[in-house]
Amino acid sequence: MEKQELKHTETHELRTFGRRHGKKLSTRKQYLMDSVLPDIAPKIAEKSNNSLILEIGFGNGEHLRDLAVSNPDSIVIGAEPFANGVAALLSAMTTESDNSIMNKYKNIRIHPDDVRLLLHDENFQDIKFNEIWVLHPDPWPKARHEKRRLLNHDFLNLLSEHLSNTGKIIIGTDHWEYYDWIVEQLKQTNLKIKSTSLDIIKTRYQIKNKAGTSEPKYLVLSN
Ligand SMILES: C[S@@+](CC[C@H](N)C(=O)[O-])C[C@H]1O[C@@H](n2cnc3c(N)ncnc32)[C@H](O)[C@@H]1O
Repeated sequence: MEKQELKHTETHELRTFGRRHGKKLSTRKQYLMDSVLPDIAPKIAEKSNNSLILEIGFGNGEHLRDLAVSNPDSIVIGAEPFANGVAALLSAMTTESDNSIMNKYKNIRIHPDDVRLLLHDENFQDIKFNEIWVLHPDPWPKARHEKRRLLNHDFLNLLSEHLSNTGKIIIGTDHWEYYDWIVEQLKQTNLKIKSTSLDIIKTRYQIKNKAGTSEPKYLVLSN
């Protein structure tokens, strides 16, 4: 099972996420995946008209919804390959009565896959984000899985290329060893640490706190 889950992504880069599917989706969630999701794919036309925010690995999307509400004039793009997480977000951003997107969430776009496919897409090559969020990335704590960590220097350099002039990358993790590892990776990039403190809503993984640490640590980075 583990071997199958760790196969390469379509990008030929190592897979950085666990499962793509969890338990079977409810009829409503499956409907949302089939009928609403295709309409809110990130669109090339939007890239120059609005300020853009990206959240990578949004899980069930609590923080992404918070971003959408606090930044009504921005387009907020979320990337998440775990279908049940995508379905949970779709369910929370639509009305139960007619499955339409609530007004406050109309600025959300979803890329239901590995974010690297979006960032490497030739149509999005010159896309620049004002904010890029990565909250509780999978820590891959076993030494033999370390190479599956998403926030390695190559990926951080890719994010750096996609930052606007005043753009920030915001990373949070309660896995302190992974945090230190990311700080080491930064030495092979031009990114600078602007701040290490942040006050944001608790995400599902933060509440689970599998690492058992007392609090998450944050990095706010800029070019
Ligand atoms: C530990 S969970 C945290 C979820 C959420 N941010 C939270 O704090 O509740 C990490 C998430 O990152 C996603 N992920 C891992 N690699 C990814 C990638 N290459 N692109 C997009 N999402 C990814 C996983 O599917 C998973 O849902």
